[in-house]
Amino acid sequence: MYYDMQQDIEEVLADEKTLAEICDRLAAEITKDYRDSQKDLVFVVILKGSMHFASDLIRRIELPCEMEFMKVSSYGASTTTSGFIQVHLDLKRDVRDADVIVIEDIIDSGRTLEKLSHLLADRGANSVRFCTLLDKPERRQVKLDADYVGMNIPDAFVVGYGLDYNEKYRNIPYVGILKPAVYQK
Ligand code: IMP
Ligand code: MG
Repeated sequence: MYYDMQQDIEEVLADEKTLAEICDRLAAEITKDYRDSQKDLVFVVILKGSMHFASDLIRRIELPCEMEFMKVSSYGASTTTSGFIQVHLDLKRDVRDADVIVIEDIIDSGRTLEKLSHLLADRGANSVRFCTLLDKPERRQVKLDADYVGMNIPDAFVVGYGLDYNEKYRNIPYVGILKPAVYQK
């Protein structure tokens, strides 16, 4: 059963210290930006990939706030304009009039968050912003910019700190590039 997952990592992109610094910086920015808001602040954590990031980030927020969870997937290229999104697990509270901050692990094509932004706007949120740990701007297929970005990364498949390949590697404590040999075999 024992298997050293590190042997499948080509390069570390963000070690534990870097991840902690990212969370410190983003939490300070968010705390400053929402300090004077009179609305409920609701973090929408997108499962499963952003679980570690959300946990570390939200613990550093120095404001009253709530946590909600969603699990979504967006359909492929043919549905970009229809804005269709499949919701596997939905919010438990009404976000009408709330300030929503969506927490994502990574933005790739941007389709998932683009569709989610429409869905949350339709539900009457006062504001919707996006906070992502990682961003691959080169891969973008729709116009979407996150409001809070931990780190821009090159176009490579990464795992760790919540991000998976076939549901594995989420428990690696850092973010690293997965060796292509792992998914090419
Ligand atoms: P988008 O709709 O193309 O922006 O898809 C973003 C989703 O794809 C993320 O929430 C991840 O689940 C997944 N994803 C994209 N790139 C990677 C990666 O490099 N490693 C792991 N998951 C990824
Ligand atoms: Mg995934």
